[in-house]
Amino acid sequence: MHTDSSEHAAKVRTFFDRRVDAYDAFYDPPSPLLRAFNRVFRKAVILRRDQMLTLARQHGCRTVLDVGCGSGRNTVWLARQGVERLVGVDISAPMIEQATDLARRAGVSDRCEFRRLDFIHLPRGERFDLVAAVGLFDYVLDARPVLAHMASFAEKVVYGSFPGWTLVRSPLRKLRYALRGCPTHFYRRGEIAGLLEELKFGAVQVQPVPSGHLAWTAR
Ligand SMILES: C[S@@+](CC[C@H](N)C(=O)[O-])C[C@H]1O[C@@H](n2cnc3c(N)ncnc32)[C@H](O)[C@@H]1O
Repeated sequence: MHTDSSEHAAKVRTFFDRRVDAYDAFYDPPSPLLRAFNRVFRKAVILRRDQMLTLARQHGCRTVLDVGCGSGRNTVWLARQGVERLVGVDISAPMIEQATDLARRAGVSDRCEFRRLDFIHLPRGERFDLVAAVGLFDYVLDARPVLAHMASFAEKVVYGSFPGWTLVRSPLRKLRYALRGCPTHFYRRGEIAGLLEELKFGAVQVQPVPSGHLAWTAR
């Protein structure tokens, strides 16, 4: 069945609009049991966030564009780690409301700005040292134009997390999300490397993590 990009984006938006609290709770689980579960089975969420900071520090990044910022947990965390200016973009209005509120409560509203839109429609012009998308490519119909758009904003680094193909987990996850109306996508290592090399931005690195890969290209 043919799905165009706006139809696809609408499905993803509807899915995340309804799951703000559930998604956000990952970062601050209500019970010790869930905290322990997350530490073992959702380690990649923390690894992909930590890599944002590692790259920001390695490349002296003072400004960050957080694409698909969700409830702003990573954006606000980076602000608290010293990044000077951050813009978070997300297609879901409730996610952006949550992120704005989180930045206010953390006292970093002066450094974090959140905008609600499909990233592909963010007008070109602004520049950021690091342009990052973690947890986004699972929900993107075609990664190529999204990566090219990311690179058009980037001074120093383009970084993303990519869910990997596994024989059992990926089809089950695809089915679980499809039943809730949300399309998902998975990537092989070679495909990710090829996509980043096409940007002709700089050296490409692809690093395996438990649920897929973290990949970046830097000047
Ligand atoms: C799994 S969440 C990850 C949130 C955040 N990056 C994190 O790691 O906590 C994916 C987010 O991407 C957003 N998203 C999906 N497609 C998008 C698009 N085309 N433009 C902007 N945001 C998008 C969703 O609304 C959702 O909040």
